[in-house]
Amino acid sequence: MDFTLTEEQIMIRDAARDFANNVLKPGVIERDEKQVFPHEEVKQMGELGFLGMMVDPKYGGGGMDTVSYVLAMEEISKIDASASVVMSVNNSLVCWGLEMYGTEEQKQKYLVPLAEGKIIGAFALSEPEAGSDATKQRTTAIDKGDHYIINGTKNWITNGGTASIYLVIAHTHPEKGHHGINAFIVEKGMEGFVVGTKENKLGIRGSDTHSLMFNDVKVPKENRIGEDGFGFTFAMKTLAGGRIGIASQALGIASGAYELALQYSKERKAFGKEISRHQAIAFKLADMATEIEAARMLCLKAAWDKDQHNNYDLSGAMAKLYAAEMAMRVTVEAVQIHGGYGYVKEYHVERLMRDAKITQIYEGTSEIQQIVISRAILRD
Ligand code: CAA
Repeated sequence: MDFTLTEEQIMIRDAARDFANNVLKPGVIERDEKQVFPHEEVKQMGELGFLGMMVDPKYGGGGMDTVSYVLAMEEISKIDASASVVMSVNNSLVCWGLEMYGTEEQKQKYLVPLAEGKIIGAFALSEPEAGSDATKQRTTAIDKGDHYIINGTKNWITNGGTASIYLVIAHTHPEKGHHGINAFIVEKGMEGFVVGTKENKLGIRGSDTHSLMFNDVKVPKENRIGEDGFGFTFAMKTLAGGRIGIASQALGIASGAYELALQYSKERKAFGKEISRHQAIAFKLADMATEIEAARMLCLKAAWDKDQHNNYDLSGAMAKLYAAEMAMRVTVEAVQIHGGYGYVKEYHVERLMRDAKITQIYEGTSEIQQIVISRAILRD
């Protein structure tokens, strides 16, 4: 088994690291505190190709593999998880969903500007009463011949205010259960489509999370993705890849906190020596480094599965479950190693601890990953 990265993968990882340190880091504390979306920084991410990394170059993307995406997500997330969630949703959910299942017209119209980073997309599945139980969509899309009329509310939508296009999941034939669900491309500005107030969140506070309201929104039929009734499968397939992105985000948050804790422990002295030389701290660092490496292997394995066209439902869910739980443990320990300094904003680790929490919740809670994994291993 060869774990060596290619020259291209190393180059992408290093470019992401430089961008994160030089562009994202300077304003990250202020953006978090004031809940400011990183508009200028995201624009630069687009110019560097980080918003459509895996999209075919003929649609404006970078044509990179999923392993490169994981490497870049880790580096960006070490510094700014609010920026990396924009990247993750745009790449894994919106671009991938359109490239995989969109028509040629949809790709030309929507995928190209998304992959080039000229616009940002959002994925609107969750509702006030349908988050984990995704089949219970209340949003309706009534077939009116050449168009659909969409009514309903979506909640906790990442990029909700900043996006230009939204992939919206809605019920067309409620009597058919999940076989009656469709996915639609909805443009900001369509009549009756209202972006609700921004959520005031615990973490990833620089990201832009909104509810969305659809009041008789008229969407042309050509904006439906796939055959009638394909929407639930579309959402499941898309989220399966999205989980690799969020697993890599969790990995990056943890490795960012660990690197800060390692550095601090070598500088801070207590009881006559650097705290890293006390076993109480050294053993914490050993556990953190081991858990991070395990999560990295799971993320890269899931990415490799995707690149090899293997099924990645199981490896992606395992990566997300482990990386998210690990990120929470590691960031709590990073704050602990920093002592009182860890509890104040200048040292970054308290933000990383708050940011870690969302990785256990979005794109399927840890309990949802356990459902996916247990069903897969008990199937036979
Ligand atoms: N690929 C293709 N099809 C799939 C699939 C997959 N990975 N997983 C399920 N399906 C299909 C099943 O085959 C089944 O189809 P058939 O009836 O035709 O056989 C259908 O979907 C229903 O499957 P289940 O009976 O297994 O469905 P379920 O109701 O038991 O739920 C679940 C399955 C995995 C729990 C699913 O509901 C789920 O993933 N829930 C979580 C949703 C989620 O991640 N929400 C997060 C919101 S998005 C977000 O957070 C984005 C953001 O802003 C960052």
